[in-house]
Amino acid sequence: MDESLEQKIKDAIANPKNMGELADADRMGTVGNSDCGEMLRLWVKFKEEHGRKVIDQASFQSFGCETAIAVASMATELIRGKTAEEALALRHDELTGDLGALPPMKIHCAQLVEGALKSALTSDESKVGAEPENIPSLMDSLNKNAQPAQGRLRMLKKEN
Ligand code: FES
Repeated sequence: MDESLEQKIKDAIANPKNMGELADADRMGTVGNSDCGEMLRLWVKFKEEHGRKVIDQASFQSFGCETAIAVASMATELIRGKTAEEALALRHDELTGDLGALPPMKIHCAQLVEGALKSALTSDESKVGAEPENIPSLMDSLNKNAQPAQGRLRMLKKEN
């Protein structure tokens, strides 16, 4: 990975945006990568603006690598103010925002974010119902779906 990208990722994870569960979210998507054992969950909340339903806020939680966290931080900022259709039109290489292009071995990290966004915005199961407390935590989902290598598990909480 080139030095400037490495520095951008370091900067992004030093002050990640929109990390943690989003209260009152309308949609939620969770995806995992079976190859590397990373998981990422993304929450989306909509609002009405000038007669359009646009994304008001988005947040994420990740048991992911630093690149996935950095991309999720960028992507959750990028999609604000966009309609679901506009957000879905963004490809993984656009969701990286200021990070720019990722090296080939890190592209799947951005695809993880893209997958969580697509899941949140398109899957019927992604609607957060009246009892969000019944949604399994990302940790529970992780334990069911993946066995990450020891020492790579990371729990991120939202900081305001
Ligand atoms: Fe697998 Fe980044 S999400 S290494």
